[in-house]
Amino acid sequence: MLLDKIESRTAHAGIIGLGYVGLSLAIAIAEVGFRVTGIDINPDKVNRLKQGLSDVPDVSNERLSRFVDSGQFNVTTDYSVLNELDTINICVPTPLTENRTPDLKYIKAAVQKIAIHLHQEQLVILESTTYPGTTEDVVLPILKSSVTFKSDSFSSLTEDSNFNIKKSLKVGSDFYLAFSPERIEPGNCEYSLTDTPKIVGGVTQKCTQLASIFYQQFINKVYPMSSPRTAEMTKLLENTFRSVNIGLINEIALICDRMELDVWEIIDAASTKPFGFMPFYPGPGLGGHCIPIDPHYLSWMTQKYQYQARFIELASEINDSMPKYVLDKVINALNMKKKAINGSSILILGVSYKKDIGDTRESPAIDLIRIMLDKGARILYHDSYVSNITLGERGTFTSQDLSTRLVESVDCVVIIADHSHIDYDLISEHANLIVDTRNATRSIQSTPNNIIKL
Ligand SMILES: NC(=O)c1ccc[n+]([C@@H]2O[C@H](COP(=O)([O-])OP(=O)(O)OC[C@H]3O[C@@H](n4cnc5c(N)ncnc54)[C@H](O)[C@@H]3O)[C@@H](O)[C@H]2O)c1
Repeated sequence: MLLDKIESRTAHAGIIGLGYVGLSLAIAIAEVGFRVTGIDINPDKVNRLKQGLSDVPDVSNERLSRFVDSGQFNVTTDYSVLNELDTINICVPTPLTENRTPDLKYIKAAVQKIAIHLHQEQLVILESTTYPGTTEDVVLPILKSSVTFKSDSFSSLTEDSNFNIKKSLKVGSDFYLAFSPERIEPGNCEYSLTDTPKIVGGVTQKCTQLASIFYQQFINKVYPMSSPRTAEMTKLLENTFRSVNIGLINEIALICDRMELDVWEIIDAASTKPFGFMPFYPGPGLGGHCIPIDPHYLSWMTQKYQYQARFIELASEINDSMPKYVLDKVINALNMKKKAINGSSILILGVSYKKDIGDTRESPAIDLIRIMLDKGARILYHDSYVSNITLGERGTFTSQDLSTRLVESVDCVVIIADHSHIDYDLISEHANLIVDTRNATRSIQSTPNNIIKL
């Protein structure tokens, strides 16, 4: 029985997609004793993982190697291993299409593979962030129609036997399906995967129960919900909450700028209120795989219900305008020094989307570098977490060693990701001009006129 296997931790757990979410999850499951197999379509990634090399900051090479070397964690590009798995967590990307609508192609591709191998007593859990209805209206129908994928891997079976096996599988009694969003925040040292409560919504009660018991093996608190839809919506609420609040504080920053007020001082003061206020901070724009993308999943969905999510869309609009606002700050700052951006040398400090991590996905630094290059600026960058960045036809840029000489040599330093280990006092002392989008120079008491804050 699947329940016994889960409770005794003898179930063979599988993870599809070994990125930030999937790899962290795989190791957390292995740590409590399960045998885990990870499947990824990227052969280079699989080869690196086999050598104990992790791309994910929250999973160190030492932690990974322990389970790779012992054989408790295996990685492969071969989907036929799905036949052997008792549980399968889907952790593939959910980006936007060019038209900024949900792009479920990775989920569909992974589920089609599962459908080929789906068997009795298998638990399938979708972890990728997505819109309400995906588990029941997209994933479940593919699993149910698994017979159409038979030729791919069941060539040794007769068509009839394959057809019969697949046709008889029923969700909630033969196999189990649930949605449980991942809520980890890369680089967050305070809350790890195991001590962030896990919400779970199954297609049937039995699905919720089994998935909850599975997570209880390695997560301190599990919160069952009434359906996959409510769990899907909860994840979108959480990330939209952040996007909207960041949009609000970015707007307050724009207003304060016009009124010549220091928005950072005002947020600090408001944060002294012990109730009814939660600080959010302005910045050069949103980044990462979640906050800039997930609200679009929600606003796209609401259109199906003849509702336009105005508030959510407005927040995204303000957040999306921030790189351009930073550009204007840089142009004005250079202008004060009688310089034009065209021909100026600009050092970007931190190109990841937030401090102390090396993730550059959707990073506003990338947008900003592109626009500044278009304006004729000469761009250098330093980021100890990101050794190089590739900007399409503009080529590859390499992180420069940070020295006083470098800081003194450029016309302007623009702080985008305020990594903790940087000596901002030293930067302030030596830079000709600084545009600080993160209040990284807060410790400098009387702001000298070479520092322009957001
Ligand atoms: N990164 C985060 O902090 C975070 C936090 C919470 C939720 N999420 C959500 O989790 C999901 C995964 O995000 P991520 O950051 O781990 O993505 P990622 O890009 O880091 O990793 C995804 C992995 O899936 C692999 N992949 C793609 N299609 C595949 C397929 N068909 N079969 C097997 N492997 C496949 C890719 O090669 C990649 O290694 C997304 O929906 C994201 O929104 C991410």
